[in-house]
Amino acid sequence: MTVLVTGGAGYIGSHMVWELLDAGESVVVLDRLSTGFEWAVAPEAKLVVGDVADRDLVGRIIRENKVDAIIHFAGSIVVPESVADPLGYYENNTCKTRTLIETAVREGVPNFIFSSTAAVYGGAGLEPVREDARLAPESPYGLSKLMSEWMLRDAALAHDIRYTALRYFNVAGADPKGRTGQSTPGATHLIKVACETVLGKRPFMQVFGTDYPTPDGTCMRDYIHVSDLAAAHRLALQRLRDGGESLIANCGYSHGYSVLEVIDSVRRAFGHDFDVRMGDRRPGDAAAVVANSELARKELGWTPQRDDLDLIVNDALAWERILTTKNSVRN
Ligand code: UFG
Repeated sequence: MTVLVTGGAGYIGSHMVWELLDAGESVVVLDRLSTGFEWAVAPEAKLVVGDVADRDLVGRIIRENKVDAIIHFAGSIVVPESVADPLGYYENNTCKTRTLIETAVREGVPNFIFSSTAAVYGGAGLEPVREDARLAPESPYGLSKLMSEWMLRDAALAHDIRYTALRYFNVAGADPKGRTGQSTPGATHLIKVACETVLGKRPFMQVFGTDYPTPDGTCMRDYIHVSDLAAAHRLALQRLRDGGESLIANCGYSHGYSVLEVIDSVRRAFGHDFDVRMGDRRPGDAAAVVANSELARKELGWTPQRDDLDLIVNDALAWERILTTKNSVRN
């Protein structure tokens, strides 16, 4: 049995590949390398460069490798970009996912795990949000993912396929063994931006808004270590293979940190202060987005191992240093 990981050359996908290989799984990666990197794919995995909507290619991969599960990460993830290019996002995230599900059904792949997002909820409050909360995506990105969840739901009712959709909160950090990490140039994620700034890759960074209705006035998010997220997928895979029913579950730690708390953690990890400027609100940011993750803990038997902001930041910073070395060797 082989697991097909789409987007396995990207940030979360490359961690998933290591997680599966460490557990003794056979892995094939399908990635068109538009934002991912060939070097990010573990050498023990087979890499096929191509598109998830290429029916013939995906069909061949499934048959030749006896694929019994697809973990689908490939997709576009930048919220403001989705506002500027909604049709591009619906094409890449929704239409291509539809084709991939269709191929999975046609080829008889029984298990499907899907990368969803907390963005399906829209602006949440300070209270941790449960899976049955109102779904009100505020961006084409969030809606493109929600539509994919719905397609999976309906396909699972009609065909012999079961799925797990995991709604990620703020994924951060890097492989504790330093094998992979967030490598996208120009990333906008807070911890990545702060780590780049302390290492001098950016002259300064900005805090987007200090007048939110939160304890220190800055936005709060539920930061989850990427390795814990990969572990949740492995458990979801096991559960589906054991005959578990389809499931949609949040992946977060159920508590939030403010932007200023994250910046303090980066200061502690680096040992020095750096240039942080207070700025205006960024359009579209919710004051707080925190998961209620009871369902994932109960259904998947998921017990996070790295629920500690300093640990997340330390791993992110360690990877940023490795990336500096990699890039200087390449240049
Ligand atoms: N922030 C700053 N300065 C920066 C970058 C971010 O102050 O330079 C702030 C943001 O305003 C926000 C917080 O840090 O308050 C987190 O921002 P991120 O960009 O790291 O993450 P988001 O919460 O905006 O978005 C993330 C994912 C999305 C996903 C969403 C779900 O990037 O893909 O969580 O809640 F949809």
